[in-house]
Amino acid sequence: GIKRISSPAEMTRYVVEQKQEGKTVGYVPTMGSLHEGHLSLFKKARENSDCVIASVFVNPTQFGERDDYINYPKNIERDAGLAESAGVDALFIPEESAIYPNGSDITVKVHSKTDVLCGKSRPGHFDGVATVLIKLFNIVKPDTAYFGMKDAQQVAIVTSLVRSFHFPVKLVACPIVREADGLAKSSRNVRLSVEERKEAPELFKGLQAGLRGAKLGETRFDQLIATVKAYYAKHLTLGKIDYVDVLNYPDLRRSGTLLSGRFIIACAVRYQNARLIDNITSDTE
Ligand code: PAJ
Repeated sequence: GIKRISSPAEMTRYVVEQKQEGKTVGYVPTMGSLHEGHLSLFKKARENSDCVIASVFVNPTQFGERDDYINYPKNIERDAGLAESAGVDALFIPEESAIYPNGSDITVKVHSKTDVLCGKSRPGHFDGVATVLIKLFNIVKPDTAYFGMKDAQQVAIVTSLVRSFHFPVKLVACPIVREADGLAKSSRNVRLSVEERKEAPELFKGLQAGLRGAKLGETRFDQLIATVKAYYAKHLTLGKIDYVDVLNYPDLRRSGTLLSGRFIIACAVRYQNARLIDNITSDTE
């Protein structure tokens, strides 16, 4: 069965033991309320590593609104069962006081790639993500860590974090897992009303319209943004656009006017009780 560990010291002991046996360690950090998106990361880790570790920790420092943190869906028994079926060997489930033994006495600040996309409307969010990942990487010491492209900006920033702080960790970015109708799987989807859930697949369709425009030869960032916004103006009646943007990826800048390298088309849309994000990168077929 799956091993459940709540103490950081015990987690480190376990992983050091695994490594002494010559095993490679794959790690998937999560905030729980697991769905197929998370499970795809577990399965990828299972393919590549001898020992697979996942964590469930709803990190308070990356939430802006207190309500979003308090209402974040939790179901640890269900999560443990799902993680076990997906081949996870050990589940790290620490208490807040174990991860933040001195509160937020020392944190890190992310200075790059945060002035766009979700960073703009969620000040401090990526500082919280970077801070908790430093802690988690130090505890788990993985050879490889798995992240989903659902949070493409997070992938870009964690790549910088690993480089900046010299973590001997290889990052693997995994594709977005979607519902049959195209809605990106998310723990927050359960907060959509029936009507909102019906509309939500339009987010992805709008991004696809943008990508189509690029594949047909449009090279102006602004024009692609306008294409996606026009699609949403026509197809979203309940959701309110937080942002639609087109940027080079992973630097998250607009270099020139030509979409020569890799780029991302991303959006965030607000519904009554959930803010949804989605994106498509130019190398998605
Ligand atoms: P969480 O939102 O639980 O997501 C954990 C991982 O699952 C992230 O890497 C995320 O991108 C990935 N994921 C979520 N939905 C996905 C989908 N539909 N397809 C593919 N991957 C998906 O991201 C976090 O937690 C936190 O910020 C964390 C990294 C754990 C730090 O607290």
